[in-house]
Amino acid sequence: MGFFYLFFLLVSISSTTNACDRCLHQSKAAFFSKASSLSSGACGYGSSAASFYGSHLAAAVPSLYKSGSGCGACFQVRCLDSKLCSKTGTQVIVTDENKNNETDFVLSGRAFMAMANKNMGKNLLKLGVANVEYRRVPCDFKGKNFTVRVEESTQKPNYLALKFLYQGGQTEIVAADIAQVGSSSWTYLTRNHGAVWDTSRPPAGALQLRLVVTSGYDGKWIWAQSVLPADWKIGGVYDSGVQIDDVAQEGCGECDEQIWN
Ligand SMILES: *[C@@H]1O[C@H](CO)[C@@H](O)[C@H](O)[C@H]1NC(C)=O
Ligand SMILES: *[C@@H]1O[C@H](CO)[C@@H](O)[C@H](O)[C@H]1NC(C)=O
Repeated sequence: MGFFYLFFLLVSISSTTNACDRCLHQSKAAFFSKASSLSSGACGYGSSAASFYGSHLAAAVPSLYKSGSGCGACFQVRCLDSKLCSKTGTQVIVTDENKNNETDFVLSGRAFMAMANKNMGKNLLKLGVANVEYRRVPCDFKGKNFTVRVEESTQKPNYLALKFLYQGGQTEIVAADIAQVGSSSWTYLTRNHGAVWDTSRPPAGALQLRLVVTSGYDGKWIWAQSVLPADWKIGGVYDSGVQIDDVAQEGCGECDEQIWN
C-alpha cells in the first residue's frame, strides 16, 4: 500500500517540477499597504509569519502558490528601475496567495522597500507597482530546524493538525506520515491548506514524522525520529531536530546559463 502510494506520488511529482522556479522570471510586484493582510495569509502561518525573514513576506500567484505546496518557498526579487532599486534586491518568503494576475507577487511593505537603493524607499513605495525580476532560491532559517506547531483545530485524541514551519532548502513537501516513536505503523497526513497538514487518526504517545520532499525526478525521505513528546500541547511548537537543505533538481536546461549579475 505504502509503496504504491509513493510510486503514484513520484509519478505525479515529476509532472509538477518542470516549472523551473529557479529560472529568472520577469513580472511585476505590488505591496500590501496594511501589515495585517499578511498575517491572515492563505498559508495559515498567522502571526508567526511576522518573524520570518525579517517580515519580508510575499503573496504569490497560483502558479507559484501551487495550492499551498509553494508556502514557505523563498525568492530573490529585485526591481528593474536602476535608479530606485539595488541590483541585489531582497529575499522573500511565500506566506499567501495572490489571486490578482497582474503581478506575480504582492510583497509586504518591508520587503518592497528592501528592494530600494539607499534613501529611495519612499519613491519606490510611491510607484506602487514595480517591474521586477525574480527566481526561486533555497530558504535559509539561520540554524533553525524544521519545526511543527500543533494547531488549535486539534482535538485530542481524534484529530491532529500540524503546521510546518522553517522548511529549509528548495523543495516541496509532497507527503508526510506520522507514527508513534518506535512503531512502523505510519499514518499519512493530508495537506489541509497552506502549511497545515492533518489526520483524523492520530497515533497516541510520542510521535515521529517522515516527509517526502521533491528532490529531483524522485522524492527524498526526511525522517525526524522524535518530533512530538507524549505530552504534546495544542499551540505547542516542536523542533524536529532535522532540517531540509536539498535543492530540487529540475530539467531547466533553458535557464541554467542565466546568471544573476
Ligand atoms: C487576468 O484575469 C482576467 C480575468 O480572469 C483576464 O480577463 C485577463 O486577461 C488576465 N490577465 C492576464 C495578464 O493574464
Ligand atoms: C537542530 O537539531 C539538532 C539535532 O539534530 C540540535 O542539536 C540543534 O540544537 C537544533 N537546532 C536548534 C536551533 O534548535
